[in-house]
Amino acid sequence: MRLLKLAHIDTLTLNVFSWAALQPSEDTYCFGKLDKIMELAKRHGMKVCLATSTGAHPAWMARKYPEILRTDFYGRRHKFGARHNSCPNSPVYRKFSVQLASKLAERYQAYDNIVAWHISNEYGGECYCENCEKAFREWLKKRYGALEEVNRAWNTSFWGHTFYDWEEIVLPDQRSEHIDEEHTVAQAISLDYRRFNSDSILECFRLEYDAVKEYTPGIPVTTNLMGAYKPLDYMKWGKYLDFISWDNYPSNEDSVSQIAMNHDLMRGVGGNKPFVLMEQTPSQQNWQPFNALKRPGVMRLWSYQAVAHGSDAVMFFQMKRSIGSCEKYHGAVISHAGHEHTRVFRECAALGAELEKLGGEILGSTVQAEAAILFDWENWWAADYSAGPSVDLKYHDEVLNYYTALHRQNIPVDLVCEEDDFSKYKLLAAPVMYMTKPGADERIREFVEKGGTFVTTFFSGYVDENDLVILGGYPGRLRDVLGVWVEEIDALPPHKKNRFSYQGQAYEAKLLCDIMHLEGAQALAGYEEDFYAGSPVVSRNSYGQGQAYYVGTRSGEDFYQKLMADICKEQQIQPAAKAPEGVEVTRRVRGQEEYLFFLNHGEGNACFEIPRDGLELLTGKACRKGEVMELEAKGVAVLKNC
Ligand code: GLA
Repeated sequence: MRLLKLAHIDTLTLNVFSWAALQPSEDTYCFGKLDKIMELAKRHGMKVCLATSTGAHPAWMARKYPEILRTDFYGRRHKFGARHNSCPNSPVYRKFSVQLASKLAERYQAYDNIVAWHISNEYGGECYCENCEKAFREWLKKRYGALEEVNRAWNTSFWGHTFYDWEEIVLPDQRSEHIDEEHTVAQAISLDYRRFNSDSILECFRLEYDAVKEYTPGIPVTTNLMGAYKPLDYMKWGKYLDFISWDNYPSNEDSVSQIAMNHDLMRGVGGNKPFVLMEQTPSQQNWQPFNALKRPGVMRLWSYQAVAHGSDAVMFFQMKRSIGSCEKYHGAVISHAGHEHTRVFRECAALGAELEKLGGEILGSTVQAEAAILFDWENWWAADYSAGPSVDLKYHDEVLNYYTALHRQNIPVDLVCEEDDFSKYKLLAAPVMYMTKPGADERIREFVEKGGTFVTTFFSGYVDENDLVILGGYPGRLRDVLGVWVEEIDALPPHKKNRFSYQGQAYEAKLLCDIMHLEGAQALAGYEEDFYAGSPVVSRNSYGQGQAYYVGTRSGEDFYQKLMADICKEQQIQPAAKAPEGVEVTRRVRGQEEYLFFLNHGEGNACFEIPRDGLELLTGKACRKGEVMELEAKGVAVLKNC
């Protein structure tokens, strides 16, 4: 408690992996230790984010009820061990986890210092056991009603897969439809399994959610998400969390844009409301191949980066290094030395003091963007499962390319899903929008008709929600709004490239090259090599009052930056502020109040012109528009308007 106070830490996440301690046998619960810790926290004025501990089941439970153990992709039933190890469809797991959540809520409901419930921990993974198989059939019945409809949606006439009885349906894994974890011969089945698995785990969350709400209806409930975590459809999950919290564990090699995109994605999952940085390491991880230290200043910089993208809290894993098991060398606020005289502690304490000084100032303000990028999990699964045209085609990479282009120009971006309201944006980019779900094309058409700018790429508009090809030519239902027809798609191996010129500058065409015909669109660039030299590669179509761009190939960062800069200029989409290379700028807004965050990710000092009069909140200095601000390497400035 002394050290926590020294570090200005005011909120504790407690009880994350305590199930075995809290329930030593089926009929015994022991809350004594937690009672003491809860009392201690209260006495010292600490707020608590109370976890339900259901992220790892006790050994006795696995022994007595082996059905709670997961069966992996290879069909191996696991023994007791590790964590995040419970079958999401095990009725026994569900019963005991809900019971524990409920008991915790009942016991600690009177603690007014509990600020949030933290259900389980980093939900994830998958299970292929018999319970899951049964549950999958039930899930399919709900989704499709009749077996004929399943056969149609899955195109089971291919390779003689027609099902005549629900019991014939098995889970798609290494023993059935899969070549390996990433490659399946039955995309539609594997896609539905992904949906089902995400829903099954979500159901576990929801059951515990209801259990704690029964006693503590006023306490917000969350679970810690993991950024662009592929197995769970967070866009769907986001609707069931009271607020989003997530764990940010980048490696030192990740680009600034990559980290920023994760924050924006997490904000998007929660409907662009403020979120919470639930975990980050103060120094290093233990699970990367090379666990480099965060260099001096980087922990502070990355903490402010989270805030700059919409976080209302900065939290750490872990407080104190443990003495045993795999996380004993994971970074912690308190090292094995056990005292405060360490670089890491000093940095945490300095940040804590600074945030305490900021107080509630920034809390509740939001990021407001005029540009949005579509990020869709079902599309991610489907595009990456596709057998052909290229093994190197990865949905997330393509989204990151467009995100990076905007982010590096300090254009605020929202990550949105198909159901979000597009009308508030001037620009909507949907790289590799392979899947067009029902109604998505109409919403895009309406967005463009009313003056929006839409950008999409190769491998878009191909299939419906069941991975069935939309017949009549690519890009399917987006063909009219884009004004192009893609006849063929050439996949280039990594050492081959084509070229094109755009606005007098030469750029590379890689990965995939669409060979397309203009159907009303205007060509902005054409290929320069191969048998399709001269045919269009980038096009723009005027549709209603708006524009729809089609980029028929993967290019380089230089091209994406140029294209996005041109579009933003034309649509008058402004950066948060102008800043030199390496300085990230974001803006949070609350009513008339605006906060500009300047984050110098570079290795040297950066100088830039202050864009408006204001108060720099971290130093308390008044700033005048036009003056030059010098920000040291890894430095941060927060400018409030006045
Ligand atoms: C996750 C978990 C923590 C811890 C950290 C280590 O985020 O939630 O329990 O294992 O990873 O980086």
